[in-house]
Amino acid sequence: MTISLPLTSTRLGLPGRYYTDPDFYQRELKTVWRSTWQWVGRLEDLRNSGDYLTTILGEEPIFVVKNAEGELLAMHNVCPHRGARLLPEKQGSCKFLQCPYHAWTFDLEGKLLAVSQPKWFPDLDKSSVRLARARVASWGGFVFINPDPEGESLAEYLAGYPEYLGGWPHRWEELREVARTVYEEPINWKFIVENYVEDYHFATAHAGSLVPLFDVQNIRTTPTGRHIPILVPYTPEPPADPAFLKHWEADVPSYQGFIFPNMMINTGKNGCSVWQVTALGPERSRLETVTYQTPAQYAADPYVPESWQQVMEEDFSVCRLLQRGIGSRAYQVRALAGEHELGVAHFHQVLAQYL
Ligand code: FES
Ligand SMILES: [Fe+2]
Repeated sequence: MTISLPLTSTRLGLPGRYYTDPDFYQRELKTVWRSTWQWVGRLEDLRNSGDYLTTILGEEPIFVVKNAEGELLAMHNVCPHRGARLLPEKQGSCKFLQCPYHAWTFDLEGKLLAVSQPKWFPDLDKSSVRLARARVASWGGFVFINPDPEGESLAEYLAGYPEYLGGWPHRWEELREVARTVYEEPINWKFIVENYVEDYHFATAHAGSLVPLFDVQNIRTTPTGRHIPILVPYTPEPPADPAFLKHWEADVPSYQGFIFPNMMINTGKNGCSVWQVTALGPERSRLETVTYQTPAQYAADPYVPESWQQVMEEDFSVCRLLQRGIGSRAYQVRALAGEHELGVAHFHQVLAQYL
């Protein structure tokens, strides 16, 4: 998809109801969340044949499983008998899949192996029944699923993003999970994204947390395809405070940014933090943050979970303010701060192509 950004736009921002309206939320479920590649986990979650991960993308329950040949397959987590959820757990391992309702069983390819009481199904051609497929692919150890069985490959979808992330001098494939935190907030998912993709708020919201560490005047936002890489250099001089100095690096910037529609990646000297945003309702979202380190990074400096709590709270508190203002008939977006809010404009343009 080619994304072009006009220099001037007749309208800035999205209509306010896009952040509150249940009908609009339903529209997003049937468009954005049904036809995009979305990050769901890591290859190490699916090491052995039969290992599976389940997820819900929009309103589509889906799972990914490693088959006997070691290949990843994604399928809709819905039984073709009468529609029950097949795999109820988030993660697990199985030799075959068995529906908890009437015990139809399927192999790891999704083919129907057996039904209970077969004599009651005299006309059923088992070979014609199989679980509906979705698509799965990975980059850098990150597993992505697209509920849409057709369309561009993950590599095409990611556009220039892998090349951008290739600048980080660590091996993405070696990352291992060291911490995970789940937040649920009364905020539309788009506000979480918009706040993430602009750096104009750093000086106010993060004056005491990020400003001492990063060179906030020189953050570079350079959209590629649907996505928004944000390169954040550290301060030119090392910070005096040891709490910041611990994270500071002279030569390698922090590779941050957003992969449409649900993933944010933030690299650091000692690991990386990857966030997954999920829309739970028109005014409710979940943000799951997972911290990864390579074995060498873990050995050098094991992650301390509380490091970034303050920053998260600073961001959620401004997002809550947006959600409170959006219902007002005085709401409007009057101006955007050039490159510092370019990510917001880009996100809106990409979104508009789905709706
Ligand atoms: S719904 Fe799955 S076996 Fe009946
Ligand atoms: Fe922020």
